[in-house]
Amino acid sequence: SQGSGIDVDCMTLTRFVLAEQRKHPEATGDLTQLITAICTAVKATSSAVRKAGIAKLYGIAGTTNTTGDEQKKLDVLANDLFINMLKSSFTTCLLVSEENENCIEVETEKQGKYIVMFDPLDGSSNIDCLVSIGTIFGIYRKTSDGPPSLKDALQPGIETVAAGYALYGSATMIVLAAGGSTVNGFMLDPAIGEFVLSEPNIRIKPRGKIYSLNEGYAAIWDEATREYINSKKDPKCGKPYGARYIGSMVADVHRTLVYGGIFAYPATSANPKGKLRLLYECNPMAYVIEKAGGMATTGTQRILDIVPESIHQRSPIFMGSKEDVQDVIDMYKKHG
Ligand code: AHM
Ligand code: MG
Repeated sequence: SQGSGIDVDCMTLTRFVLAEQRKHPEATGDLTQLITAICTAVKATSSAVRKAGIAKLYGIAGTTNTTGDEQKKLDVLANDLFINMLKSSFTTCLLVSEENENCIEVETEKQGKYIVMFDPLDGSSNIDCLVSIGTIFGIYRKTSDGPPSLKDALQPGIETVAAGYALYGSATMIVLAAGGSTVNGFMLDPAIGEFVLSEPNIRIKPRGKIYSLNEGYAAIWDEATREYINSKKDPKCGKPYGARYIGSMVADVHRTLVYGGIFAYPATSANPKGKLRLLYECNPMAYVIEKAGGMATTGTQRILDIVPESIHQRSPIFMGSKEDVQDVIDMYKKHG
């Protein structure tokens, strides 16, 4: 990195995935191509989230939209980007998006062997106030014969081939957990438009000091959740934990991965299955956390073991540091 300040041999995400692929002589390169397509969609989404080009839209002189162009809603834009990039990668056959009621079947001539579940822009309540949001994705292999069908989409999280997320925070980062490999964080360097490996082999602490959930629902939690969270605030049970809750799953889980602790979206009497969606919110995040040495549970069942019945089904979730999550499991046993 002499002189120009440019690392002339930096490890980009594409290069990293390619090197992983080379370890498997039988690999076709399709997964590499698929992840590259995701990277492109993330870059474009990141640019839109950061309002690149807004001056043009609003006109240099005034504060009104002089061109008359309607700015496409960010979540719609992100969804269109992901669908188009995934289809044109020639590596997917079935897509499940939070934004689409039904599975999207890729045109026959563009079909490949992978199935992708994604939430193109999660944290919808934080979009308009410029707080961190993210993209979540899980990749599966089609195992059945014949044309892709709903059944192919209903695989439990343990079948994941690769999963990860993009966080549009103070910087943009992709965290990727692929197959046998470790969990790695790649920071987007806007200067070269590449994701650069900045956090190799991320491991989550066995125990943290932070709990993260929406406490506004405390009155309608179940007894296990109530007693567990109370114990995190009661000095008689040890040093109280700090509270952090952004309300964007990607940001809250990324902080949990980096600093340790526990993130939860538990069941309430109003929503006995919680809020978060199993296929494209809980499973990919649980896969990353497990690969980093943490755990993810409903309280009574490992998230990745749940066999889905419908594509938009919800699940309560507790995830993060191993010992913290184990405390929750023990609490559910006590109340079971
Ligand atoms: P969304 O898919 O509409 O964005 O909702 C999912 C988000 C998660 O990112 C976050 O963990 C949760 O909703 C917050 O919900 P609440 O406002 O009930 O705490
Ligand atoms: Mg969502």
